[in-house]
Amino acid sequence: MTERDQDTTETDGEPLDLADQELVRDPFTAYAPVRERGRMVRGRVRGVDLMWVATRHDDIRTIMSDPRFTIDATAVPGASVAHRTEQTWQARGMYAGHEKYLRAGIFDADGTDHRRLRGLVTAAFSPRRVAALRPRIDAIAAQLLDRLPDHAENGVVDLVEHFARPLPITVICELIAVPEADRDRWRARSATLSAGVCGEELGEALAGMVEDARTLIDHHAAHPGGDLISELLSPRHRDRLSTDELVALITNLVVAGHITTVNLIANSTEALLTHPDQLALLREDPTLMPYAVDELMRYCGPVVRALPRYATCDTTVGSTPVQAGDAVLPIVSAANRDPAAFTDPDRLDLGRTRRGREPHLGFGHGAHRCLGAHLAQEEAAAALTALFDRVPDLRLATDPKDLRRGTNPVNWHLKALPVRL
Ligand code: HEM
Repeated sequence: MTERDQDTTETDGEPLDLADQELVRDPFTAYAPVRERGRMVRGRVRGVDLMWVATRHDDIRTIMSDPRFTIDATAVPGASVAHRTEQTWQARGMYAGHEKYLRAGIFDADGTDHRRLRGLVTAAFSPRRVAALRPRIDAIAAQLLDRLPDHAENGVVDLVEHFARPLPITVICELIAVPEADRDRWRARSATLSAGVCGEELGEALAGMVEDARTLIDHHAAHPGGDLISELLSPRHRDRLSTDELVALITNLVVAGHITTVNLIANSTEALLTHPDQLALLREDPTLMPYAVDELMRYCGPVVRALPRYATCDTTVGSTPVQAGDAVLPIVSAANRDPAAFTDPDRLDLGRTRRGREPHLGFGHGAHRCLGAHLAQEEAAAALTALFDRVPDLRLATDPKDLRRGTNPVNWHLKALPVRL
């Protein structure tokens, strides 16, 4: 029996500092010792010891789908410090009084309200509707690739700036029909909201996006079209959600679907360029692409951790006693490299999914599993297909170890991806 098989847990000792630069730099392998150290370890954010940290695949699946845990901190009396920290931010005015628009209820509610809100938009993100968007996504990717040589300096282009970044926001803006002239503003605000900044900058971006969303709703109410907002304003749906809920939903879709997908495209491109054997497999057999995207989500998925879950009762995870109100933070990047769930987990193996295996948790699991997963996968597939078809000699313009990564502890991302065409 390995130490891992024993139901270990670590309640003593220094809490894990989630801002530790080693964990932030490489959340895939740096969590390995944590995962082995104990089933659940105490964690610390901004100097406050506030939660349990879960790193194992099976535990995270449980925490995300078992009614003993909820995403809704307000539903649990005495919900832990994690939630109180958020309240402190609100009290300090970090969200410019617009905090209610940050998490739309779709992210932080469970039960009836969550089902109602999610039910209103599920169809728009179904595999069928997403597949119908593919020609448009291909066209956007092709247009960006056409312009790529214009951005080259000494033969080098930054693929993050000129390819990965503009693609997803253009798709979302088309989905909700944001006028072309306004798209740069939406893109900048969304990037600020995902950048982990706080204070005035965050408040301004949020207030601006809320105002833009209201203007957009008024516009679509007066001039209905074939977009998602017009659909939600139609008589079939209109009385099923309030205007505030619609504003929050728009804000959430833009923020959740933008930077995440940018980072998936950039991380995946880097992974393929640094694993030429895997890229060759993909080139030989384009039908591998959907499986490849799934494996890339597991191997270098952009979201390090999901939202905290709160225990609804005194319970245990394995033998770890968890008290009602305790927060548990699911580290999905650690779960996706858990050797108990994946054979040879640190190896990029594009054929893995085709052979069948545990699903990765990069899009979460259970009732809150990513609503936009099909869209994100379709965008990544379209982007990678177009890029490697159009630029067969694509190669990194720098040593992989010199690539600069951001220090956002939630979104694992490249600051730039310099390539030669
Ligand atoms: C939820 C990741 C793209 C919309 C989630 C969750 C994860 C995730 C991990 C679950 C959070 C939790 O349970 O705590 C990602 C990644 C993406 C991506 C890695 C890209 C690679 C998108 C896109 C959209 C979107 C394109 C829509 C345009 C949402 C929404 C939720 C969600 C609305 C909340 C669902 C709910 O709570 O019921 N996403 N996402 N995401 N995602 Fe995504």
